[in-house]
Amino acid sequence: MTTRIAVIGLGSIAVEHLKAYQLNPQAELVAVCDVDLERAKARGEQFGVARVTGSAEEIFSDPDVDAVSVCVPNTLHAPIAEAALRAGKDVLVEKPMTVTVPEAEALVKAVEETGKALQIGYVRRYAPNALVTKRFLDAGEFGDIYAARATLLRTAGNPGGWFGDVELSGGGPLIDLGVHIIDLCWYLMGMPKAVSASGATFAPLGARDNIQNLTRYKAASAARPNTVEDFATAQIRFEGGAVLDVATSFSLHARNEISVRIHGDKGGAEIEPELLMITERHDTLLHVQPQIDSLGFDFRIGFANQIDHFLRICRGEIPADATAEQGLEMARMLTAIYESAKSGAEVAITR
Ligand SMILES: NC(=O)c1ccc[n+]([C@@H]2O[C@H](COP(=O)([O-])OP(=O)(O)OC[C@H]3O[C@@H](n4cnc5c(N)ncnc54)[C@H](O)[C@@H]3O)[C@@H](O)[C@H]2O)c1
Repeated sequence: MTTRIAVIGLGSIAVEHLKAYQLNPQAELVAVCDVDLERAKARGEQFGVARVTGSAEEIFSDPDVDAVSVCVPNTLHAPIAEAALRAGKDVLVEKPMTVTVPEAEALVKAVEETGKALQIGYVRRYAPNALVTKRFLDAGEFGDIYAARATLLRTAGNPGGWFGDVELSGGGPLIDLGVHIIDLCWYLMGMPKAVSASGATFAPLGARDNIQNLTRYKAASAARPNTVEDFATAQIRFEGGAVLDVATSFSLHARNEISVRIHGDKGGAEIEPELLMITERHDTLLHVQPQIDSLGFDFRIGFANQIDHFLRICRGEIPADATAEQGLEMARMLTAIYESAKSGAEVAITR
């Protein structure tokens, strides 16, 4: 049984969704939608999708659409995902699920009330480096994870467009890049409840549009004023005492860097930049490097796996596992970090 898919929002990341659906025999791409109708037409042609619309409402009311990918700017995730669920569609929503806690609570309610699936596009969970780590972790190889540290720094990587406009993005690198690495650590830590967060944000450099001869990921949408942070650094504390430290930037006087590490009482793992497991046996330290095709995050395989996983959810073979409840917990963590950055004090996370 194929799942009939519509993709809503057809900018840069939608291309990865469209490619992965196109290559998956379990998916039938039936419609594409973007408020920029010219872009929608171009994507329709590019991927051979005949039904092209500028209105998401048309997708919601179309009985020939079973499920949607939501690839619009962050602050539009909540209304579009909720309307799709309430119209009876399964939903794959790009990260972050929402930018506020009340919106996330509304999505949790919508999933409960409709019985439809909502899956968050935490693509990094589905790349082989994370899948292998999870398998070792579930077998108890690392023991209890009590600390995680994640860094995703771009020297000059503000994507521009809506990403820089806090009204549409909800924030800068923390909510855009930080969400990926916070989620990956949190997921591998066993998704403990967050109890507090402390953070700081800085914006002395701006979007650094002056930088030449350097390719960067760019939003397809038009330029807007830059009102987000350049750099965020934070610590999240969890029930049971575990901590997660995170640092992330769009603009920073630093080299580009990605690092994702978890530390347990029996062993640790570096998931990025290259999978490596660290442990001790017979009074000797061991570095164990799994032999897999890609030791770092493989974007193409990650997307292919994520889409295949979503299609299995749509067919009812497995439940959603990057759920609205998890999106709500992420909204709590990100909101607390931004609040802490404003107040200059640690913020308790209450529910
Ligand atoms: N998973 C990842 O690695 C990853 C990477 C980049 C972006 N993203 C996420 O994907 C989403 C989109 O980012 P992007 O880089 O593709 O942005 P983009 O600006 O390139 O594309 C967004 C598109 O949404 C369209 N749009 C805006 N409002 C709409 C509406 N109401 N209905 C239909 N279309 C609408 C815009 O016209 C534009 O074409 C964001 O949530 C972002 O955080 C995820």
